Order: sequence, then structure tokens, then C-alpha cells
Amino acid sequence: MSLASVHITGIGGYLPERIMTNAELEKLVDTTDAWIRERTGIEQRHIIAPDQMTSDLAVEAARIALADAGITIDDIDALIVATTTPDLIFPSTATVVQSKLGGRDFPAWDIQAVCSGFVYGLAQAEGMMRAGMFRRVLLIGAEAMSRIVDWKDRGTCILFGDGAGAVVLEAGPSDAENGMIGSVLHADGAFRDLLKAHHPHPPSSPELHHEAVDFAIDSAGAAAVEMKGNEVFRVAVTKLGDVVREILLRYELNDCDIDWLVPHQANIRIIQATAKKLKMDLDRVALTVARHGNTSSASVPLALNDLYINGRLEKGQLILLEAFAGGFAWGANLVRWSK
Ligand code: UT7
Repeated sequence: MSLASVHITGIGGYLPERIMTNAELEKLVDTTDAWIRERTGIEQRHIIAPDQMTSDLAVEAARIALADAGITIDDIDALIVATTTPDLIFPSTATVVQSKLGGRDFPAWDIQAVCSGFVYGLAQAEGMMRAGMFRRVLLIGAEAMSRIVDWKDRGTCILFGDGAGAVVLEAGPSDAENGMIGSVLHADGAFRDLLKAHHPHPPSSPELHHEAVDFAIDSAGAAAVEMKGNEVFRVAVTKLGDVVREILLRYELNDCDIDWLVPHQANIRIIQATAKKLKMDLDRVALTVARHGNTSSASVPLALNDLYINGRLEKGQLILLEAFAGGFAWGANLVRWSK
């Protein structure tokens, strides 16, 4: 089969139990609930349990997505995990998830495009499936951002949360009416220093260079997100406005054709700006930022799942997904809902 159509046939989301409110953050850093709500729209975020890792969140979301699609892990041909907080440097979190789900002998790999990981993953899976490589792909965005946040930096620690979202993608007939329409992806590494997670000794750090294997330093120490928030904000608003226009133009659609905007949930003001450019009311926009904060690669599938579990998606509706991330890496996907 080649040039098949690609459909989301299962979806699931998982948020760890522990909820951290803005009031709790007031005790940690010099901030206020009012400031956080006004500048970001965030009211609370979920925090991973001490004994959980990113793969555990991914597994929970994946189980729900598989059940929703009415299949098991044995029916899956490929597994992709988008994450910026992997369990280990290697093996990939995808192989950990595969094993925890009881799957064997199908390809599994990670994608690192930070908050755009799910949008990138959807584009990659779609391309491979249309080319006939896979019939059923499990795509997960999963993050434990609280583990890499600098809890002393009020400019960033208030923004992030943990969670996972998963979809089952299935190939269908090439003449299907609904399903994935296409994607647009971008990256520009010139901006890489504006938003990054710093580790004192990253895996390829020259400090870890082994002089004839006689020199290795202790690489222990915490990683921490660093961001020039204001500059990121400005570029995000511009690039997201551009990419939603670009994808509509590429697939010959208009903003009035869109039924749902499912944006990355970084900041309510960025979402409002994109919705405005598309002339969309906020009641046609998936909004989870208040409850989840920024869950990085989990944010777009969690927002889509939120619409789904609240019964708001209907077959044939046109959905525009978009994300903006460190790198910078950004992109968008268009999907006609087929469930
Ligand atoms: O997921 C990837 C993409 N990420 C994003 O898109 C995030 C983009 N950036 C943002 O969302 C916003 O820039 C922030 C929410 C991070 C910051 O909002 P802002 O309106 O851009 O604030 P700012 O950085 O310009 O800071 C304004 C003031 C500063 O004080 P002064 O210099 O005016 O006295 C900050 O020190 O707000 C201060 N401030 C805070 N005050 C209370 C910064 N963080 C806080 C805080 N509580 N948590």
C-alpha cells in the first residue's frame, strides 16, 4: 500500500495526581497568583510522583489510546515518543515504553523537538505511513518538565507541568475523506540560546573528554531550563502567525474552514494572538493552559484529548494543531477528524 490516508483512531491523556497551585509557588519564589494568571493564564500544573519517570506517564496515556482504538500493543508497527525529558540518555524512552507495554520487535525511537515534538512526530509518522512503511503507529508526547525546571527562577518555574498524551495512527484507503491533511515544519538554530535546558556537563561536553581514558569528571548535577521569556514570546507570536497562514495556503484552505485550533499551551496570550490572526473565537480553541501549564511535547496531544473526552470533536471537523519550541523549532498539522 502506498500513499495511504492516515487517521487518529485512538487518543489518551494522563496527568500525574499531584496538583501544584500558583499559591504554592508564591511560597517558593517571589511571585503572585495574580501575576501568573494575568501574564500566562496558568492556574495550576500537575507534578510527577517521586517514583515515576517520563516513561510511566507515557505508558498510562498509551494504554488509554490503545483501548480507545480497540487494539493492543501487539497490533502496533512502530512507536515514537516525543520527549525532552527522557528516562535515560539511552536507550530511547520509546524502547522503555515498548517494554513496559509488553510490545516486542517493532521499531521504537524518540524525537527531540521540545514543545514541538508531537507536531514533528505527527508529520514524521504521517510521511512514513503514507509511504507504506507502517500501518499502525503509536505516537506519544510525554514530559517530566518539573525535573529540569530551576525552582529558584520565577521567570520559568511557574510555566511548566508534567503529563503525557498519546495517539494511535492507522493507515486507511487512499481515497478516504477524512484523516491527516499535511504538515509544515520549521527550525532555526540561530535562536538556540534563547530557550534551553542547561546541564553543567551535557553528554558531549568537552569537559567530559577522555584524554586517553585517563580523565573523566563527575557529571552529576541538575539540568535547568533557561529562557529569555520576552524575546521567546515575541518570536513565538510572529512565527506561529506565519506557520498557520503557511499551512492553510499550502493545503488551499481558509481560516474560516477551521473548526478547532489546538495550540501548544505555553501562554494564554500567545494562544490569543494566534487565534486572533485566524479570526477565531476562543470557544473554538482547545484551552488547557490554565489547568496543565506548559507540558512541552505532551501539551498538544493533551489539548486534543481534552476536546475529545469532552465530546467536542465531530467526524469531518478540520483541526489545526500548532507548536513553538526551543531551538527554535515550530510547526503545524492539519487533520480532518475521522473518529
Ligand atoms: O514552550 C516554548 C515556548 N515558550 C514560550 O512561548 C514562553 C514565552 N514567554 C512567555 O510566556 C512570557 O515571556 C513569560 C510568561 C515568561 C514572561 O511574561 P512577560 O510578560 O514577557 O514578562 P517579562 O519577562 O517581560 O517580565 C515583566 C516583569 C519583570 O519585572 P520588571 O523587570 O518589569 O521589574 C519580571 O522580572 O515581570 C517580572 N516577572 C515576574 N513577576 C512575578 C517575571 N516572572 C515573574 C513572576 N512573578 N513569576
